[in-house]
Amino acid sequence: MKDLYKIAKEVLPNSYSQYSNFKVAAALRLKNGEVITGVNVENASFGLTNCAERSALYTAYSKGYRKEDIDEILITTEQTSFISPCGACRQVMRELMPENAKVSMTTANGDVKTVLNKELLPFAFTESDL
Ligand code: THU
Repeated sequence: MKDLYKIAKEVLPNSYSQYSNFKVAAALRLKNGEVITGVNVENASFGLTNCAERSALYTAYSKGYRKEDIDEILITTEQTSFISPCGACRQVMRELMPENAKVSMTTANGDVKTVLNKELLPFAFTESDL
C-alpha cells in the first residue's frame, strides 16, 4: 500500500486542474505487479473533465488489460481529509474492476481508508442488466 501511495504522490503534480485547483492522482495495481497511474484532466468545457480514477483505468484498458487483471486502486489528493470517488467513477470502477477489488482513499498525511469496490455502489446497474 505504501508503494502505491508514494507512486500516486509522485504523479500528483501532473494533474491538469487549472479550473478547480484540486489535484487528484490514482495508482492502479495490476495482478502482474505493474502499476498504472492517472490524474484528473480538466477542460474549459467543465463536463469533459476526466477524473484520476478513470484516467488510470482507461490507460489500463488501452494497454489491453481487463477487469480480471486488476488488483486494487489507491487515490490521493492534497487534502487532509479523505476524498472518495465521484458517482461517475464508481459506475466505471464497478464495471472495469473486480467487485472485490480494494479501493483505498488517502490523505495528504498518509492516512488510508480502504473499502471494497462493490461497497461504493450498492444496487449497481451493470452489464449483466442489459
Ligand atoms: N476528481 C477526481 O479526479 N476524482 C474524484 O474521485 C473526485 C473528483 C476531480 C475532478 C475535478 O478535476 C476535481 O477533482 C474537482 O472536482
